[in-house]
Amino acid sequence: MTHEVAVVPGDGIGTEVIPAATRVLRATPVDIEFVRAAAGDETRAETGEALPERTRQVAAAADATLFGAAGETAADVILPLREVVGSFANVRPARSYPGVDALAPATDIVFIRENTEGVYAGIESEIAEGVRTLTRVTTETACERIAEYGFSYAAQNGYDQVTVAHKANVMRRTDGLFLDAVQRVGERRGVSYETALMDALAMHLVMRPEEYGVVICPNLAGDVLSDLAAGLVGGLGLLPSANVGPDNALFEPVHGTAPDIAGEGLANPAAAILSASMLLEHLGHPETATRVGDAVKTVLAEGPTTPDLGGEATTDDVTDAVLAEMEMEL
Ligand code: NAI
Ligand code: MG
Repeated sequence: MTHEVAVVPGDGIGTEVIPAATRVLRATPVDIEFVRAAAGDETRAETGEALPERTRQVAAAADATLFGAAGETAADVILPLREVVGSFANVRPARSYPGVDALAPATDIVFIRENTEGVYAGIESEIAEGVRTLTRVTTETACERIAEYGFSYAAQNGYDQVTVAHKANVMRRTDGLFLDAVQRVGERRGVSYETALMDALAMHLVMRPEEYGVVICPNLAGDVLSDLAAGLVGGLGLLPSANVGPDNALFEPVHGTAPDIAGEGLANPAAAILSASMLLEHLGHPETATRVGDAVKTVLAEGPTTPDLGGEATTDDVTDAVLAEMEMEL
C-alpha cells in the first residue's frame, strides 16, 4: 500500500532538515509517495500568500504531512495547517538521550496537549477602554477526546504513569468539566492516573522529571509545560512533535527556522528525523519507526554531531550516519 505524504519544508533550516528526514523515509521499506507543497515567508514573497490553497489541499488529501518551519509567517502557516489535517492532539515527547548533555538526563515524558480550544480559542474582546477579556472554551467532547487519546497513547507506548494537569481549584467550571471528562474516560478504560495542579507540576517536572510518563494537558498548560520539559532534555534540535486528528496528522520538529544558522548546512536534523519516525508509526509501521528512532539515538550517542551538540558535523554528515546505522540494523 502506498502512503501519500505531503512535504512542506517552509523556510530557513526547514529546507535543510526536511530533505534529511525524507532521505531517511526513502531508505525505509515503507512505500511513500511524496507531494511537495510550498508555504512560509518565501512563498508569501513570491505569491502573496503564506499558505497557498494548493498546499492546504495537498495536506488535506495526504495520509500525513511533514512540515519544517516557517519564519515570521509561522502563525499564518502552522495554525491553519494543523486545522486542515483536523488535528486535536499535540503530541510532544521530551526525551533525554545518552551522550547528549541535558539538565535532566533521565527524562522520558510525552505531553498530550489539547490543541483546539481553551484560552487559545481566540475569543478576546475589549469591554471598555483599557479593559479586555478572554473567553476560555472547554467542551465535553474535546475533553473526552483528549483523555481517550492520552490514555490510549500511554497504553500503546508502555507508559504506566499518567498525569493530568489542571487548575480546577481556580478555574472551577472549565477545568472541573475537564477533570470530570477525564474521570469518566479513565473509569471506562479501567485505568488509574493522577491529577496535578499545573503550577506545582511545573516545579515537580523540574525536580523529579524521571517520575513522569504521559502528561495530559489543556491547551495553554500543555504549551508551557512541554516547553519547560524541552529545556530539561537539551537542545531544540532534538524535539519532534505530532498534531494528530481522527484520520490525518501533521509532524514537525518543535524548532523554528533558526535564521542564525540557516544556509550553512549545520542544522541538527535529529528533530526532523524523529518527527519522520513518529509519522511512520502513525502510518502503521511501528517497527520501522523504532528502527529510525534507534538509529538517531545511536548517532546522538556515538556521533557525529552538529555544532549545537558540540560537534563539527554537517546536517548531511549526521543524516549519512543515521542511514548507515539503519542499514546495520536491517
Ligand atoms: P528557532 O527554533 O528557530 O531557534 C532558536 C535557537 O535554536 C537558535 O539559536 C537556533 O540556531 C537553534 N536551533 C533551532 N533548531 C535547531 C537545529 N535543528 N539545529 C541546531 N540549532 C537549532 O526559534 P526562534 O529563533 O525563536 O525563531 C526563528 C524563526 O522561526 C522566527 O521567525 C519564528 O517565527 C519561527 N518559528 C517557527 C516555528 C514553526 O514554524 N513551527 C516554531 C518556532 C519559531
Ligand atoms: Mg509553544
